[in-house]
Amino acid sequence: MPDEAPDPAAGQRAGAMTGKVVVLGVTGGIAAYKAVSVCRMLVDAGCHVVPVMTRDARRFVGEATFSALASEPVMKSLWGEPDAIPHTRLGRRADLVVVAPATARFIGSYANGISDGLLLATVMATRAPVVVCPAMHTEMWEHPAVQENLEVLARRGVHVVSPEPGRLAGGDEGFGRLAEPGRIVDCVLGLLAGDHSKAGDHSKAGDHSKAGDHSKAGDHSKAGASLSGVHVLVSAGGTREAVDAVRVLTNRSSGKQGHAIAEAASLRGARVTLVTTTDRSVPHGIEVVRVESAAQMEKALLERSISAQVVVMAAAVADFRPKAAFEGKLHRSDGLPEILLEPTPDILMELSRSRRPGQLLVGFAAETEKVAERAKLKLLAKGVDLMVANDVSAPGAGFDADTNQVLLIDAAGSVEEIPLASKHAVAEAVLDKVARLMGPGRAPGQG
Ligand code: CTP
Repeated sequence: MPDEAPDPAAGQRAGAMTGKVVVLGVTGGIAAYKAVSVCRMLVDAGCHVVPVMTRDARRFVGEATFSALASEPVMKSLWGEPDAIPHTRLGRRADLVVVAPATARFIGSYANGISDGLLLATVMATRAPVVVCPAMHTEMWEHPAVQENLEVLARRGVHVVSPEPGRLAGGDEGFGRLAEPGRIVDCVLGLLAGDHSKAGDHSKAGDHSKAGDHSKAGDHSKAGASLSGVHVLVSAGGTREAVDAVRVLTNRSSGKQGHAIAEAASLRGARVTLVTTTDRSVPHGIEVVRVESAAQMEKALLERSISAQVVVMAAAVADFRPKAAFEGKLHRSDGLPEILLEPTPDILMELSRSRRPGQLLVGFAAETEKVAERAKLKLLAKGVDLMVANDVSAPGAGFDADTNQVLLIDAAGSVEEIPLASKHAVAEAVLDKVARLMGPGRAPGQG
């Protein structure tokens, strides 16, 4: 058994998925040893795990390890199994198929419909959600063939758990290391809990069309461009600035739009960090940092922006805060307090000043009049690539609504109107625009 870091979420997962059938595909890479931990965590969570190993996977880890943990013989081949059609039987039995690690060769074959062997035949025969967890050397991970194949898979609704930076085979350091088992298992359990398992076809597993009326937001009804390997940092919610021990200055922001963007980016395969002032629940697989004030948000964002390729500043940051919070609670009998205000830091401006080369910065502009004009001025003043402008006084748009209506204004001056749509649909439109601005040559997973 490999060394394992303590897994803080293990208790929460225990026994949560009694009886769900998970096919665990293991392909031939050194990270196959980490699939042992994935197997054990899934069994601990109550899943019935059916291990499927390729020949090369068995060069790295013995099949007895998986069969003992899963209490199920390892399946290896289309031929010689007691069942004459093991792939279709497995595909139908599965509530979910997860492939960890997935080699470049597996990803290429799957994207191109080459059913070469039991595991590939199974992922093609199943109608259950499929989760692919790539692991390979940085050079291979960055190869356009691998990235394009992953984009094809993501467009078809396959969930990609992007790799991480760290130690690779042969003592190299870089990006491409298999995601930590806890992240993979969280993604699997999250999908099973959402009951995507009976979704019926692949596209539905990644389909957001139920979340709102995409058709109204232009051509965003299809699964969007993959953000696999991209680190997306998102802020959400209104900041709260302490007046005294019990009172705060805040605004009407609900955080819904920022959370929708984080969720949509995660479903497109991005590594997402969400810095939020809300206590909204966040799906598995998204790193959440809960903050309250503008100062806390600034610190959290500046620290994490170093590794991000995309930063989306959807939070409504207070523009002013009390110069100093009163100690304890102010009482009515104390008389009217005099509250001195000072400006908060402009976080977006700070992010723009310190941005790393190639990083894409997205701001939001909340306006009540002259929306496009004011948003363009803010785009220039804050040095961002894309401004999402909304008229917060328009019916159905802005704070606390479930819908929104925005203009996407880029630095080249192009303005795209997104008519009233769900905040999830608007999130997809924003990410489509981000993907277009990044272009096909984007460098995935750097840093
Ligand atoms: N913003 C920020 N830090 C602040 C204020 C705003 O990072 N202290 C960001 C917001 O998150 C948003 C963008 O700047 O992405 C524009 O915010 P908005 O409230 O529309 O504009 P302000 O710059 O605050 O200007 P004003 O309120 O005067 O319109």
